[in-house]
Amino acid sequence: MANTTIQAQVAPAIGTDGSTIDPASVILDVQGLYVGYYEDLNILQGVDIKAQRAKITTILGANGVGKSTLLKAIYGFLKPNRGKVILEGRNVVGTPTYKLIDRGLAYIPQHPGIFRWMTIEENLEMGAYTFRGDKARIKRKMEEVYERFPALKERRKSLAGKLSGGQQRMVEVGRTLMTDPKVMLVDEPTAGLAKLLSEEVYQHLVNLKEAGITILLVDQEIRQALKIADYVYVLELGRNRYEGPVDQFTDPQDLKKAFWA
Ligand SMILES: Nc1ncnc2c1ncn2[C@@H]1O[C@H](COP(=O)(O)OP(=O)(O)O)[C@@H](O)[C@H]1O
Ligand SMILES: [Mg+2]
Repeated sequence: MANTTIQAQVAPAIGTDGSTIDPASVILDVQGLYVGYYEDLNILQGVDIKAQRAKITTILGANGVGKSTLLKAIYGFLKPNRGKVILEGRNVVGTPTYKLIDRGLAYIPQHPGIFRWMTIEENLEMGAYTFRGDKARIKRKMEEVYERFPALKERRKSLAGKLSGGQQRMVEVGRTLMTDPKVMLVDEPTAGLAKLLSEEVYQHLVNLKEAGITILLVDQEIRQALKIADYVYVLELGRNRYEGPVDQFTDPQDLKKAFWA
């Protein structure tokens, strides 16, 4: 567990509610979230997370602390027992996922979920399911995705299952971009990818941020995740352990010792 030297190196954020985040910049605000897979067993026990507009907020934590559970709860796949998920000022707890997509949420799960037996183009069309009748909009969005990922355009008639791991990730990101997300929930996007491909995926996340998309990134790749993060949270067994702007997390090795021990 954390020792005091390391805690001192990672100085606490200061503010009225314990954080330095400007409230006006917050687009997604998770407050006091209790959620689990069984009624009487909360995996998350009062987690607070704020995602700032057009920034990358990274959530770190050891395997099993509840990072994926948090993203599933935000996306409406799990119903919290307590707490709020405030998206652009409105509590969206209980809102069905398809409506959250309309409100600007997108989710890229930990395990890639592309349709392997469909072409790239068909996968992108699936991303447009909520506006499937609007051919002009689908075409427009698809062109935008191809502009961002030219490699996908070249291979648009290929079966998605035949692509490399990195390209499959791009199909997933592309599919979520079809709905014009404001906030993307991204769960360990480079798990199982080679280093070079990982770097490419992280670069795409930075590009998306620069295009104005808010990213809430869950990761175990501490070093890489810290390189692109603006603000960092560390979870420990269903609770907030630490938070602060990324420049407070200077040495990933220290973090690792402190929180993965
Ligand atoms: N579908 C599920 N049913 C029951 N328990 C689950 C399920 N998914 C995850 N858990 C449990 O919830 C805890 C947190 O899991 P998870 O959110 O996946 O952690 P992380 O993403 O931080 O590794 C773990 O103890 C895990 O075993
Ligand atoms: Mg996980």
